Amino acid sequence: MLTPEENELLTRTGPGTPMGELMRRYWVPVAFSHQLEKPDGPPLRARLMGEDLVAFRDSQGRIGLIDEACPHRTASMFFGRNEECGLRCVYHGIKFDVEGNCVDVPCLPPGTPENQISAVKKNMKIKAYPCEEAGGVIWAYMGPADCRPELPELEWAEVPDDHRFATRHIQECNWLQGFDGGFDQTHLTFLHSGTVDMRRGNTDRHRRIVPSIYEFCPLPAGFAFGGGREIGDGNLSWHVELMMMPFHKVIPSVPRAAHMWMPMDDENTMLYSINFNTERPFTEEDLERELAWRGIHTENIPGTDRAIQTKANDFLIDRELQASGESYTGIKSLGAQDCGIQESMGPIADRTKEHLLVGDSSIVRVRRYLLDVLKDLAEGKAPPGGNPAHYRARSLRLEAPATTPFTELVESQVWGNRPAAAE
Ligand SMILES: [Fe+2]
Repeated sequence: MLTPEENELLTRTGPGTPMGELMRRYWVPVAFSHQLEKPDGPPLRARLMGEDLVAFRDSQGRIGLIDEACPHRTASMFFGRNEECGLRCVYHGIKFDVEGNCVDVPCLPPGTPENQISAVKKNMKIKAYPCEEAGGVIWAYMGPADCRPELPELEWAEVPDDHRFATRHIQECNWLQGFDGGFDQTHLTFLHSGTVDMRRGNTDRHRRIVPSIYEFCPLPAGFAFGGGREIGDGNLSWHVELMMMPFHKVIPSVPRAAHMWMPMDDENTMLYSINFNTERPFTEEDLERELAWRGIHTENIPGTDRAIQTKANDFLIDRELQASGESYTGIKSLGAQDCGIQESMGPIADRTKEHLLVGDSSIVRVRRYLLDVLKDLAEGKAPPGGNPAHYRARSLRLEAPATTPFTELVESQVWGNRPAAAE
């Protein structure tokens, strides 16, 4: 349970809000690289933490991320002409480069002196954020220039492109509902049961038994969370997940998986879902399996980031399927089950009304961690994860004697077991 003030603090991410300013200290996902495939191709709208922006790939392949509103008369740059190293507003032809510089103002009267033209250009700068590409994702940095870190060394972003399968879609609720839910291990036994049991031949004990032990271990960019299930003979089966700032989660499934809950605004989130293999390419078979039961992915309306199963159609809940036991929810696909239930809490869940249980300790930990980081930031302390190597952790499942301390397992196997990136 949170106070109303804490709930506000954690869920608001617009410019100037404490959480918004904290998130702006990290590289955040704008889109997949393939969505801006070709130089001079069509631009893409991107709503990030309440800011309406337009992304484009210029003639030299560089990514620009600029304000959607043209600073001349506020028309949308989405309709712009992407040509000769810049995006030109189609209203009056004014053109901007990837750094936001105004490079052409063709609507001035003929014969305007050169010094007047340069004065107009100087005043006409458009807001622009630096972008980089890694792991098939376009990342933007929207924070203060002197605090800009290097791109985080996330494992899924460092594997070759063919070792990874990633999708995204719009989740119609606040980012924290998704992030909270990401660390809820108890729900695996309920919300996702049925489909998953069948998918994995009913052998997946991580989903069939509720954890009896919940442990945490700090990491440089967040923490490792372990749910320990009793499997007899004094052994525990650990399901170790990673929480890394500001909204990363890594899951020890097979294939491995990760999520990012990128706030579009306070009531909409772009959920990125990534499957990846460290040792081998993602095969047709892998892909089929992930898509057959839809895994963590959603099926979208073609050409959009909107899922076919949405709040408007009750996520296509099938009551017969629910009654049959084949699916606990009657909602097909893990991704839709999570989104469905998280969106059902409302656009911004009222966490003052909760009655949390033992199994929610990871959720409590996530919120507490974020509140502590916000406090530190307000006191001028740099947020965690400033060094890209802080992200070099690996999630995993393992079995160990119940007497082995969780921190020992994390130190030997989660932290530092990841091979160094290829030079
Ligand atoms: Fe889930």
